[in-house]
Amino acid sequence: MDKRIEISERDLEEALTYPVDAFICPEYARAEQELLWPKIWQMAGREEDLPEVGSFFTYNIADESIIILRSAPETLKAFYNVCPHRGRQLINTPDDCNQVRGRKPNFVCGFHGWSYDLDGQNCFVLDPEDWKGALNAERTCLSELKVDTWGGWIYINMDPDCEPLRDFLEPAAGILDHFQFEKMRYKWRQWSVYPCNWKTAIEAFMEPYHVTGTHSQLLKYGEYYAYSKAFGMHSVSGFDERDSSRKNSQSTSVTRAGSGSDPRISTYELIRENYETLNYSAGTDTLVAAASRLADELPEGTPADQVIAHMMASAKADDAERGIIWPEIPPEVMAEAGLAWTLFPNQTILQGVTFALCYRTRPYGDDPNKCIFESYALERYPEGEEPTTEWVQAEPTAEKWGAVLAQDFSNMEWVQRGMKSRGFRGTLPNPHQERKITNFHRVLSQYMGRGHLSHLE
Ligand code: FES
Ligand SMILES: [Fe+2]
Repeated sequence: MDKRIEISERDLEEALTYPVDAFICPEYARAEQELLWPKIWQMAGREEDLPEVGSFFTYNIADESIIILRSAPETLKAFYNVCPHRGRQLINTPDDCNQVRGRKPNFVCGFHGWSYDLDGQNCFVLDPEDWKGALNAERTCLSELKVDTWGGWIYINMDPDCEPLRDFLEPAAGILDHFQFEKMRYKWRQWSVYPCNWKTAIEAFMEPYHVTGTHSQLLKYGEYYAYSKAFGMHSVSGFDERDSSRKNSQSTSVTRAGSGSDPRISTYELIRENYETLNYSAGTDTLVAAASRLADELPEGTPADQVIAHMMASAKADDAERGIIWPEIPPEVMAEAGLAWTLFPNQTILQGVTFALCYRTRPYGDDPNKCIFESYALERYPEGEEPTTEWVQAEPTAEKWGAVLAQDFSNMEWVQRGMKSRGFRGTLPNPHQERKITNFHRVLSQYMGRGHLSHLE
């Protein structure tokens, strides 16, 4: 029996390796289009992208294109973006655009004028009598696929026999429900075509093991050590302690105390630096303002856990005053939710009580060396004060994305190149801190039927 396919979630604690074909091999990229993408629920966008009946957006995945629309106030539909007549895309989706968005009462094909209503039914064929009765509703309607929502995100699935979305997302969804992402709205959203595989890109945001080497400016707030854990197909990372006697003394999430000699000061500096160098995403103005008052509001010598509790209570009160009621998240859920999630295969969420920093990466056609990289911030706003945002194409620089993202960009391209070296003896992922990555390859290999993990000999 092939021992490689016996790898279970439990085996991820051991020293494992996975092959790099998945990142660099053109044939593997083409196989994903048959074995992976048509078989899974994938996040296509946010409900706020479809505010009115007739609102639509396109979602492209590899060489496939899908139109998602609001056909009635409470109904979303998803159709393949192709006219049943002779196959023209109904909505042109050029390579230099990550999403086409708009509003239409119906969809008219640009080639011969066949038209479709919001339920995908054909409502116009030019000269239908020429077919002598061979055309019927089944032949002329758009091809529909499954669509569902969770947390304000819209997911599609091309497999007509797929499991329900909720089953696919569990057990992650049961934990993340507490954050009420459906009540958050885009703060900003950016994208770029980036020169690496979509997996090389998403993996750069899965593991905090790289923080010491890549984001060394953050070490002034204390050592950076993280666990990484599988939740079925999905996985999470969170702050950990090398010294096990200190476990549970700190938050596992991004909103945590600084570890300087005066935690009132270092917490403010940490919260502010995270916020500013992550393009105003991993925090909120309210949290930074509450952190800035810590030294005035608390006596010297206040221990770190009380500093963080005070900051959270005062930010919660400030938000309540402007109409944002925080969700009540039990401490054990908060601890389990950790720092950041990867929902298989390409959605990541770094969450706080009132915000989230998210990434998604997608293949760029069938080119294994390129991807569409997207990042966006979500935040809870008082009703009516949500900003209006659009996807902005942005060069991968510190100016456009913040210093931390620029540091991540400065690795991804070179990982893609390095993995092709005949001098590379194979991956050596950290069994504790990079388990999100091995879990990702464990699940991916199940879909792909190749690229299995194996034990280090
Ligand atoms: S291809 Fe669409 S009407 Fe002919
Ligand atoms: Fe990073």
